[in-house]
Amino acid sequence: MASPYNDLVLEHFKNPRNTGRIEDPDGKATEGSPACGDMVSLYLKVDPETKVIDDIKFESYGCASNIATGSIITELAKGKTIDEAKNITWQEASEALGGLPKIKAHCSVLAVEVLRSAIQNYEEKHGLVTEKVATTE
Ligand code: FES
Ligand code: FES
Repeated sequence: MASPYNDLVLEHFKNPRNTGRIEDPDGKATEGSPACGDMVSLYLKVDPETKVIDDIKFESYGCASNIATGSIITELAKGKTIDEAKNITWQEASEALGGLPKIKAHCSVLAVEVLRSAIQNYEEKHGLVTEKVATTE
């Protein structure tokens, strides 16, 4: 049976970019998938002045779709500000990979979500989350 993945996806799966862990990261997150029990973690180093993502690494225990998306999403996010990076969509990641199989969409969405969660973790740790105004009732 032919692979559902195109050559670019397979290339990122076989040689994923930015894998591993960052010691003492500025932001990090782990997301798990209830669908398959797989996990993906992502680590960030952020320039305190410019808020540019200087370094980013991910570890995936997921499938090809998850690993390839983790790889491309770290490439897309590196060098962007956290505000730019949190707006990276699954669609953009899929397009950058020349199209992902729809049947594996949740696996790749997981890789996009872990980036947003790691940025959120960074914002929380650095007091950048704008608190919602509490209502009196
Ligand atoms: Fe688990 Fe895709 S099958 S991440
Ligand atoms: Fe695991 Fe898709 S089957 S996230």
